[in-house]
Amino acid sequence: MDDTGVFRDLLVDTLGNEGPYESFVETPDGLKAYVRTQQYDPDWLAAAVQAFPVPVRYKAAEMEDRNWNEEWERQHQAVLVGYDGGSVWVRAPFHPHRSDVDYELIIEPKMSFGTAHHPTTAMMLAYVAELPVAGRRVLDMGCGTAVLGILAKLRGAAYVEGVDVDEWAYRNALENAAANGVELALRLGDATSLTGSFDLVIANINRNILQADMARYVSVMPPGATLLLSGFYEADEGALIARANELGLTFKDKKCREGWSALRLEKTDH
Ligand SMILES: C[S@@+](CC[C@H](N)C(=O)[O-])C[C@H]1O[C@@H](n2cnc3c(N)ncnc32)[C@H](O)[C@@H]1O
Repeated sequence: MDDTGVFRDLLVDTLGNEGPYESFVETPDGLKAYVRTQQYDPDWLAAAVQAFPVPVRYKAAEMEDRNWNEEWERQHQAVLVGYDGGSVWVRAPFHPHRSDVDYELIIEPKMSFGTAHHPTTAMMLAYVAELPVAGRRVLDMGCGTAVLGILAKLRGAAYVEGVDVDEWAYRNALENAAANGVELALRLGDATSLTGSFDLVIANINRNILQADMARYVSVMPPGATLLLSGFYEADEGALIARANELGLTFKDKKCREGWSALRLEKTDH
């Protein structure tokens, strides 16, 4: 990043964290910063700019009144995830219902990860749609929106526990479970809090956390249980499979999309 980028980031930090500015758009020669009219304080802005380490030229203008909510909703697309044998439609409450799909999930798009736009979520959804989950106990680790746990429950899982370290994700997961009419055991926490026994453990997090926490996932899996991992690049598969082998798991198969990987592993019977 050149100096322009560094100062632009610093300006975003000043306006957004110290001031009331809510959104920013980079332009070729600067930055557009948006603030609600009633929160715009020209004196505060002048002082913030004065204190900035490099000179900043700026101008303020009032924007025409538009329905920003509607605008945003228009830009947020629903996602159709195909899998071997069918499709899953992941939509927000404001998108139309579809009856030509195998599963429809309603996910309130807030701050949490798991709207199916990311290839890792789409691959994990495909796995959950393809594997036998009816009557099984499922752990959705790093559940985010709980999109994966919700699909498992819609497919007849007996019990689904969703765990996330993030308070926003936890709240959003509660809301999404209710919107889809399913009961999930949701809680805030990490791998240190795991107890019980799960036939299927799903974790779409990242390479380092998966490597660090995999032993704890395996500790709640009986022989024959399945572990689905994603949140890392294809280049990292070798390291994760090596760790899984150390813990008594066998690599079964994988999915890849746009350089991202998802692995299916099974705890060896013995
Ligand atoms: C990539 S998102 C996946 C969300 C959703 N499961 C999906 O597949 O789209 C990873 C989630 O893991 C959560 N997370 C990060 N570290 C964690 C940890 N150590 N234990 C549990 N959850 C974690 C994050 O808050 C985030 O919601």
